[in-house]
Amino acid sequence: MKGIQKTKTSFFNSLYWKIAAIFLITLLVLSVVYLYISVYTAEMYFQETSQKLNAEIAPHIAGDNQCFVNGEANEAALKEVFHNVMIINPSIEVYLLNTDGKILTYFAPNKIIELEYVPLNPIKEFIDVKGEAFIMGIDPKNVHSMKGFSASEVYEDSTFMGYIYVILGGEEYENAAQLVFGSYMLRLGVRSMSITLIAAAIISLIALALITRNLRKIIVVIRRFKDGDLNARIKLRGKGELSEFGNSFNEMADTIVSNIEEMKTMDNLRRELVANVSHDLRTPLATIQGYIETIMMKADILSDAERKSYLETIFRSTERLKNLVEELFELSKLEARESKPTPEPFSIAELVQDVQQKNLIIAKPKNIDLSLEFPLDLPLVTADIGMMEKVLQNLLDNALKFTPNGGKITISLVSQKEDVLVSIKDDGQGISPDALPHIFERYQKAERTSSVDNEGLGLGLAIVKKILEVHEINIDVKSTKDTGTVFSFKVPIFKANQRIDKKFEYS
Ligand SMILES: Nc1ncnc2c1ncn2[C@@H]1O[C@H](COP(=O)(O)OP(=O)(O)O)[C@@H](O)[C@H]1O
Ligand SMILES: [Mg+2]
Repeated sequence: MKGIQKTKTSFFNSLYWKIAAIFLITLLVLSVVYLYISVYTAEMYFQETSQKLNAEIAPHIAGDNQCFVNGEANEAALKEVFHNVMIINPSIEVYLLNTDGKILTYFAPNKIIELEYVPLNPIKEFIDVKGEAFIMGIDPKNVHSMKGFSASEVYEDSTFMGYIYVILGGEEYENAAQLVFGSYMLRLGVRSMSITLIAAAIISLIALALITRNLRKIIVVIRRFKDGDLNARIKLRGKGELSEFGNSFNEMADTIVSNIEEMKTMDNLRRELVANVSHDLRTPLATIQGYIETIMMKADILSDAERKSYLETIFRSTERLKNLVEELFELSKLEARESKPTPEPFSIAELVQDVQQKNLIIAKPKNIDLSLEFPLDLPLVTADIGMMEKVLQNLLDNALKFTPNGGKITISLVSQKEDVLVSIKDDGQGISPDALPHIFERYQKAERTSSVDNEGLGLGLAIVKKILEVHEINIDVKSTKDTGTVFSFKVPIFKANQRIDKKFEYS
């Protein structure tokens, strides 16, 4: 199975299980360490207390008894003493050592000693500090374990003969665990520790389940989204990383959905365009065809004036066809990023005058006052002249189209710091606030029911916007219904040291 197709994670692969396992193992290790430390310190504490309490045993035995007679160990007397001590405290083991630490005699029933000599350093240290510090010595019966002890020097007639060495808490407490479980306090401690650990484990497992539950929710939603439910959104309470993740996903999903919507609208618009284009092309074509047919059929009976009028109609229709095709071509070239601007310095005032002259032919018959306003010392600007002319022409086309007879259109140029502000103002029918945000979109015509016979395809402003976009120029529009419209944009002033061969890049 491919990784991508695998949709269900097994329990042991789940994040929950992994984190829980790590956590429980950590808890277990900590408990063992903690238990070990407690047992060890308890044992040390016990031995220390025991040594403090029993520090005087060895000096007593040494002082009260004749341990040596004529340089020999006094076995009989010692057996008696050792026996008595053992009866009082069975955990005690007594050894008689010579000055080198050699074990001369001992009393520890049923036990074999593993050592012949006891190391004397701890013993000497113990005697030096008079039992005030906690010192451990070797247990001759178990050389691997250190024990608390009591020790004293032994004299015979003030001659130093050796040592009495008493191991405290001998075999009785060999087993540390036994020590722990034998003590009520320690048992209580271990029990409360276990309860605490178990509680901690349960609480954290539940907390972990809650956290990973959100993660599982997220996975479910993402899967639903992947499977085509575009409305699936992650809803998490709180403000943690997961909710942030959820929010990011939601934003991404919104973007995807709006992109899809946009693509759908684009698709619809395109379909509409095809319909519009075929209609818009068919009308002039039908006109052309009809008039040509008439001219052909009635060639003999047509007067010159009639023929001239028919041919003029044909000419207007072809003109219209040409314009439609050109606009479509222009926009598709701009959108395919094929036509790139070639910026150069030029006088925008001259360009505007040219455009005005060309359009007077249309303005005059409609009795529209098409005027210019600009200062004489206007600086040069940098842009693609051809493209700028197209922009002005398209804006003027609209102004002329949507301004009724006797109206007024003004093109004004104002020099600003870095740019020349170009405005085309008319007092025509205006654009409704609803339509205003969409007029720059392709195939959008604001007033379909307008009294104006709008033969346009709705491409003019899309072309304007695109051209200005490749020049990195924004266009601004202000319009009031029935009062008029102003389109304005800024063209950068040419600077003497500017490299004019710079090509504008498409964004
Ligand atoms: N000066 C204007 N006055 C009123 N409406 C305008 C003006 N310029 C543009 N419009 C509105 O914007 C729409 C889009 O313009 P445009 O893209 O040039 O398409 P077309 O001119 O082919 O209709 C127009 O159909 C019109 O409704
Ligand atoms: Mg137009």
